[in-house]
Amino acid sequence: MNGSQDTSRPLVERTVQAGQLELHVAERGDGMPVVFAHGFPLDHTMWENQLCTLAENWRVIAPDLRGFGRSQVGPGVATMEAMADDLADMLPALGIDEPIVLVGLSMGGYVAFQFWRKHRHLLRGLVLCDTRSIPDTAEAAAGRRKLAAQTLAEGPAPVAAGMLPKLFGPHAREHDPATIEATRKVIMNTLPQGIAAALEGMATRPDATSYLAEMALPTLVVVGQDDAISSVDEMRTLAHGIKDGEFVVIPRSGHMTPLENPAEFNEALEQFLTRVERGGPQS
Ligand code: MLT
Repeated sequence: MNGSQDTSRPLVERTVQAGQLELHVAERGDGMPVVFAHGFPLDHTMWENQLCTLAENWRVIAPDLRGFGRSQVGPGVATMEAMADDLADMLPALGIDEPIVLVGLSMGGYVAFQFWRKHRHLLRGLVLCDTRSIPDTAEAAAGRRKLAAQTLAEGPAPVAAGMLPKLFGPHAREHDPATIEATRKVIMNTLPQGIAAALEGMATRPDATSYLAEMALPTLVVVGQDDAISSVDEMRTLAHGIKDGEFVVIPRSGHMTPLENPAEFNEALEQFLTRVERGGPQS
């Protein structure tokens, strides 16, 4: 843990009813609600540093998306739209009746695009971390379906073996094996049904590129310098497609920027959240 810990505000974990599903949610702090949507195949614990540090100023909320952590899997394919609807359904269950800032990493970013498409009236700002607006190629979608079948047959080990080398950059591999090992454990504890449902959901996700020009809300785009999944060039193009989209590259980080370089990630996020809260012009 690299973030400074705000021990005066307790971490609250509970299960809430979000539509037809029970979602597990961790939260800390008060003030403007900031909701964090995790990447695949992870859970809310990837936001541990943000739950500590940002709760000094804001209400930080980190759910386990359907099929991950301690949330229910739900029926059928876990589409990005269904996950976005879950988040919208979660807000009244948490007593939130004001617009939120939504922070999504990778798969959480795919969910954030769908949240914007369907529920933009609930948004005050958006943070897209290490994600992509383009859909899967036919080949990538076929690979996900094969991996889904393999996961149902063999459990999460093949997913952990395939994902971990891509999630973390060279700096974490050299200096932070404990974080990589903790992430491996999260993946190994994930239900195969949840992983398979999300793989199918990502394989069928829509192309969000056409949304970018229409996105008229404060938006921060963040990418790790060494991201092997969503490259700096790809994310720069994404950011430039959004009117007034801010773009930040986090050094010494791969795909898992909030875990790999929490200090610089949190600083960028804090500056953005402060501007959004004041309602002033973005930098
Ligand atoms: C993630 O980190 O959520 C995944 O890399 C998303 C994906 O597989 O497309």
